[in-house]
Amino acid sequence: MAKTWLVTGTSSGFGKELATLLAKSPEVNLVATARRTEKLDYLDQYDHGQILKLKLDTTDDDDIQNAVNEAVKKFGTIDVLDNNAGLGYFSTFEEAQDVDVKHMFDVNVFGLAHMTQAVLPIMRKQKSGVIIGLSSVCGLAGVPSLSFYCATKFAVEGMYQTLSAEVAEDGIKVMLVEPSAFRTDWSGRSSNKTNTAYPDDYKLVKESMEATEKGQGKEAGDPKKAAKAIYEQVTDNFDHLPLHLPLGAAAVQGATANLKSILSDIDKYSDLAKDADFK
Ligand SMILES: NC(=O)c1ccc[n+]([C@@H]2O[C@H](COP(=O)([O-])OP(=O)(O)OC[C@H]3O[C@@H](n4cnc5c(N)ncnc54)[C@H](OP(=O)(O)O)[C@@H]3O)[C@@H](O)[C@H]2O)c1
Repeated sequence: MAKTWLVTGTSSGFGKELATLLAKSPEVNLVATARRTEKLDYLDQYDHGQILKLKLDTTDDDDIQNAVNEAVKKFGTIDVLDNNAGLGYFSTFEEAQDVDVKHMFDVNVFGLAHMTQAVLPIMRKQKSGVIIGLSSVCGLAGVPSLSFYCATKFAVEGMYQTLSAEVAEDGIKVMLVEPSAFRTDWSGRSSNKTNTAYPDDYKLVKESMEATEKGQGKEAGDPKKAAKAIYEQVTDNFDHLPLHLPLGAAAVQGATANLKSILSDIDKYSDLAKDADFK
C-alpha cells in the first residue's frame, strides 16, 4: 500500500527535490505544501491522483491543522512527515536583531514542533510513522556568523533526540538530517543578513559571510542526492533508520571535529565532574 508523505517547504531546494522524487513513485501519496501553492506547478506533470498540493505556512497553526486534516481526508493517514521548511540568518552574535532571530525560531523550531505535535496523534494511533527534521551540521557544531541559526538547529536536535526516545515504543521513528552547504536557495533568498559594523573586530564572521556569498550557487552539496538519500533511508533502510543522517563531506568533517572536542573535554574533566556530586 502506498505510504503518505507530508513535506513542508516544497517550493525550492531540498523540499522541491524530495517532492519531485516522491511524485514519481507509485508507492507514495504526496502531500506537497508551500506558502504559495502556485510554486508547486512543477508537480502537475506527475499527478495521477496521488498528489495533494496545499498552502502551508508553518508559522500558522490554522494552516498546520488544515494541512493535516486535508491529508487524512484524502489519503486516510500520514506515514512520513518531513519538516523541511527553514531559513537562515547571518550576523555577529553581538549585532543579531531580535526580529530576525525570533522569526527564524518561529519557522525552524516552533513551526517544526507544531507540525510534529499535529501529526503525532495520528502516528501514535496507527503505531507507526517516520518524522524527519531538516537540521544541519550547524545543529552539531557552531559556525561563525551563524550563532542564532545554529541555536535553532541545536534546538531541533535536542527536541528530536528526546522525542525519538519518547515515541519509540509506539513504533514511531525520528531522523535528523544534518547537511553541510548544499546548492539551494538557503544562503541567498532564504537567509537574512546583518553586516557587521565592526569589521576590524569580527574578521572571522566577515570571512565566513564573504565565503558564503562567494560560494553561492557553487556549494558542494547536491540537493538531488540529498533527496535520494532521505527517501532511500525511509524506504530501504526503515528497520535501521538512523537518528542522525549527516550529508556532505563538510558535515562529516565539521560534526566529527566538534564531537571529538566535546568528548576530549569530558574525558579531561571527568574526575572533576564526578567529584561535584554529594558524597
Ligand atoms: N542548503 C543548505 O546548505 C542547508 C544546509 C543545512 C540545512 N539546511 C536546511 O534545509 C532546509 C531546507 O532549506 P533549503 O536548503 O532547501 O533552502 P531553500 O531552497 O531556501 O528552501 C527553503 C524552503 O523553506 C520554505 N519556508 C520558509 N519559511 C517558511 C514558512 N514559514 N512556512 C513554510 N515554508 C517556509 C521556503 O518557502 P518559500 O519559497 O515560500 O520561501 C522554501 O520552500 C532548511 O530547514 C534549512 O535550514 C539547508
